[in-house]
Amino acid sequence: MASEAPVGVFDSGVGGISVLREIQARLPNESLLYVADSGFVPYGEKSPEFIRARSRAITEFLLDQGCKALVVACNTATAAAVAELRGTWPELPIVGMEPAVKPAASATRSGAVGVLATTGTLKSAKFAALLDRFAHDVRVVTQPCPGLVECVESGALQSEETRALLQGYVAPLLEAGCDTLILGCTHYPFLKPLLRQLVPESVSLIDTGEAVARQLHRLLAARDLLAAGPAAPARFHTSGDPEALRRVLPVLWPHAARLEALPVELGAA
Ligand code: DGL
Repeated sequence: MASEAPVGVFDSGVGGISVLREIQARLPNESLLYVADSGFVPYGEKSPEFIRARSRAITEFLLDQGCKALVVACNTATAAAVAELRGTWPELPIVGMEPAVKPAASATRSGAVGVLATTGTLKSAKFAALLDRFAHDVRVVTQPCPGLVECVESGALQSEETRALLQGYVAPLLEAGCDTLILGCTHYPFLKPLLRQLVPESVSLIDTGEAVARQLHRLLAARDLLAAGPAAPARFHTSGDPEALRRVLPVLWPHAARLEALPVELGAA
């Protein structure tokens, strides 16, 4: 039955697993198929054309695997590629994601909101449009965070190096009076415990994983595609080093998992 088909989820690497966790919590009957494009991480410093080509190839793979819906669990790939994916596969339910500017603008009391995201997301036309739409009455301070994605990819969620990098990125936002920080990259929610040690308790940390899971729920329900379950263990494919994924996965995904190879034509060069 179509409703028992898996939901396909992808990211430039393991960051989208933070979104996968929200999907699993909200939709436990769904079988999940995840592609980590870790052979090409980080997307944040790559061209939109490159990201579109990878997004197309990965979506084709997920459709070949019989996926009934797609979640682009990556802010950078959403900004560069979701419009094209929707144009190419108009029948496919597709959920993308963007930094949580709207909820942050209504949550801030200081009137200043900080956005931690990749260079690619912050430079995108989609992000500019988001600010135009929702950030009229607040001051938005943006902070690109090169290097953080690599820390999460290697599982260094609490290391001294990660702490120093994060501290350097957060300090200017706190100095600018931000009381609300948007985690605008799906890798960053894994750094929340560390981030909580670096910012005052009064500062809110906002990400979009839960909203994405809710939107997926809505799209599947509207098309009568919700699975009755039971779900198969989540399947993970990587274009990077499978051993690296095997090592880091238990830290990021506390559920059953199967690791499988990606077809060579999708693998890292
Ligand atoms: N996790 C991705 C995002 O949400 C991109 C990280 C990267 O590869 O630069 O933006």
